[in-house]
Amino acid sequence: MTLRAVVIGVGHYLPERVVPNAEFEKTLDTNDEWIKARSGIERRHFAAEDETTSSMAAEACKAALNMAGLSADDVDAIIVATSTADLTFPSAATMVQAELGMTKGFAFDVQAVCAGFVFALSNANALILSGQAKRVLVIGAETFSKIMDWTDRSTCVLFGDGAGALLLEAQEGTGTSEDRGILSTDLNSDGRHKDLLYVDGGVSTGTTGYLRMQGNQVFRHAVEKLAATANTAMDAAGVTADEVDWIVPHQANIRIIQGTAKKLGLPMENVVVTVQDHGNTSAASIPLALSVGHARGQIKQGDLIVTEAIGGGLAWGAVVLRW
Ligand code: ACO
Repeated sequence: MTLRAVVIGVGHYLPERVVPNAEFEKTLDTNDEWIKARSGIERRHFAAEDETTSSMAAEACKAALNMAGLSADDVDAIIVATSTADLTFPSAATMVQAELGMTKGFAFDVQAVCAGFVFALSNANALILSGQAKRVLVIGAETFSKIMDWTDRSTCVLFGDGAGALLLEAQEGTGTSEDRGILSTDLNSDGRHKDLLYVDGGVSTGTTGYLRMQGNQVFRHAVEKLAATANTAMDAAGVTADEVDWIVPHQANIRIIQGTAKKLGLPMENVVVTVQDHGNTSAASIPLALSVGHARGQIKQGDLIVTEAIGGGLAWGAVVLRW
């Protein structure tokens, strides 16, 4: 018998407020054409004043639990991938736990910036395979609008807010790549690149700070590292690119998404793309894309999926799973 962490529920939450690119033209020397051409982004959602990372995460969880026909007390653990938790502590995950009315189990956050969801998924898989949890809610949730420098056109036009959640359950598999569930994970980080993408605030400054990014430098690392980690994860899962139904990449930039698909030898028809509607929602982008891809009817049970992401750290990784 081989244990597998199988997706039994998926859901997402997007704030009501949608901001098109044209809105930035009022305050910044930028325009819709530049943003679209350089990033593929057309609009993004921004959280309302009273919305937080944990409140959006909880809504995404409710949708995932609803799909599975389960309640929060059927869950053993909650992992939230985020870099924008409501407070320095406690974790956003414990706030989600309280919001869901869950009084047992355990909850914690994972912070690997835009790669956070892949790191959280890998940790959830490890908890399930080691028998520490049978059902785990894995969430990516962010309010990057709270760490934007609205005078910096090179960053503030790129990011958005939202949350997505997967509910994983331990199920028996056969040990082959035909099994449903997580088939392999690959995680990497290289702190030598910590200055390419960071927030200039925290306990050392006594401020929340703003996101700072050398976008073109990050871009240079992205395609190569994303293709490499996806290939490593596919090798570990014993699958080849021609078997893959969907790449569900981190949605930072359409040019990175296209470049990585090309390097993996897959056409864009096999890629779930949401960057035009959500912008870069950091750790939320992959679960959002999985949920939207499922709602669109693209992702179906039995499909072979490769997720890959890179973000601040640098941190990057991939997960291969069968839906
Ligand atoms: N409107 C108009 N012009 C702009 C804007 C804007 N919003 N932003 C920057 N420019 C200008 C720059 O000032 C620069 O002008 P200059 O040549 O006169 O100096 C010019 O456009 C080109 O700037 P580049 O940064 O070289 O543009 P590039 O083609 O690299 O695109 C982008 C920028 C979209 C940020 C791209 O580099 C990118 O997507 N990088 C990767 C981002 C990413 O994946 N991050 C990782 C995840 S995020 C996380 O972990 C939190």
